[in-house]
Amino acid sequence: MKIISAPDYQSMSRKAANIISAQVILFPNSVLGLATGSTPLGVYQQLIEWYKKDDIDFSKVHSVNLDEYCGLSGEHEQSYRYYMNTNFFNHVNLPIENTNVPNGLAKDIDAECKRYDNVITSLGGIDLQLLGIGHTGHIGFNEPDDDFDKTTHCVKLNQKTIEANARFFENAAEVPQHALTMGIKAIMQAKKLLLVANGSSKAEVLCRSLFGPITPEVPASILQLHNDLTVVADAEALAVI
Ligand code: GLP
Repeated sequence: MKIISAPDYQSMSRKAANIISAQVILFPNSVLGLATGSTPLGVYQQLIEWYKKDDIDFSKVHSVNLDEYCGLSGEHEQSYRYYMNTNFFNHVNLPIENTNVPNGLAKDIDAECKRYDNVITSLGGIDLQLLGIGHTGHIGFNEPDDDFDKTTHCVKLNQKTIEANARFFENAAEVPQHALTMGIKAIMQAKKLLLVANGSSKAEVLCRSLFGPITPEVPASILQLHNDLTVVADAEALAVI
């Protein structure tokens, strides 16, 4: 595991964006695993800036996103499809048909989960997976559980996660109770993992994830077993490490 410390959010975003841009420049056909949440917003802004300066070309990239809320269409402002379109895809030349986000409106959840795993497999797996971390230690929406869920599946969101994400909705009652998330297997099979974290609220969970026991009660702790994990975090998130 490599831990890169950044003084602040902007620097964290720039360092993480550098890793993604190096991947795309060296391997233009890369499959990028992408993440949502507030943490990676600065990474996307930096990548857009470099794209506009002609420094990166995303035209051959494919992307797979980690997760999506159940019951929200891609037009819903809080859906992760909407987030990705507005915060990244609409501003770069990554062809929209090369982008993948689970379908939160799928009627047949099992079929949608299988379809999503097949998409990842047919792309040959993920070259570089960007990850944030939730306050429960979740990655994607893999919440604390008795086992690590391997494949794409539907999760009941943890109350702590619902409260954390309520800031994006009118109130906590508006936050969907369920989400579809890529499983631990696809994440762990990514060739490279890039975890970003900022702020003091992530300090304790980051420390437990990176140095505590490996347990499904802290889903991100499984990342310790990956042989190419880079963590880019700001000073506040690294305060207790
Ligand atoms: C969300 C997403 C995760 C994200 C996490 C942290 O619920 N499903 O992929 O990493 O929570 O979000 P934030 O970066 O806003 O703290």
